[in-house]
Amino acid sequence: MFDDLNEVLFTEEAIRKRVSEMGAQMTVDYAGRSPMLIGVLKGSFIFLADLARSIGLSCEIRFVSASSYGFSSFSSGSVKIGKDIDFEMKDRDIILIEDILDTGVTLAALRDFIAWYGPASLKICTLLDKPSHRKVQIDADYIGFECPDEFIVGYGLDYAERYRNLPYIASLKPEAYS
Ligand code: IMP
Ligand code: MG
Repeated sequence: MFDDLNEVLFTEEAIRKRVSEMGAQMTVDYAGRSPMLIGVLKGSFIFLADLARSIGLSCEIRFVSASSYGFSSFSSGSVKIGKDIDFEMKDRDIILIEDILDTGVTLAALRDFIAWYGPASLKICTLLDKPSHRKVQIDADYIGFECPDEFIVGYGLDYAERYRNLPYIASLKPEAYS
């Protein structure tokens, strides 16, 4: 264990099981279609890699970048969306893939941004949900786990760009980011 970590909340095995259940559900929900998975960089990259491989359909994989955090552990409330969208979203079945739904500010901004392009459908998938932290009204269509109101890292989630490579999800000791 690393010194800054508090406790493991979701083990590698629990994540693997849940992610494959989510992929199986999408395989059923999107049968006969070819959904476009849009991962929100950078935190979703590991989740998306595993999720995509558990969906038994031909998927198109894209990324957008969005950030509201900088190097702080508190949301600044302003969202920067990468403007280099060089792919067609009109009439596509889009699933937006995020690591964690916290205040909801990032996903609400992305949802509205993508909706403007006129997709056939738009659903939101998040590995983790912190419902107690919501500042704007938004619900995900696919949720991996509900998580406690703690700052967490691992499996793509970072603190100041570190810990993304942990194969499990752990909480950070409050003194590590205060
Ligand atoms: P929101 O806009 O507040 O919902 O924040 C979403 C983004 O904040 C996520 O994509 C994460 O990058 C980041 N975030 C929120 N909570 C955590 C956390 O506990 N650990 C690491 N990153 C987090
Ligand atoms: Mg993120």
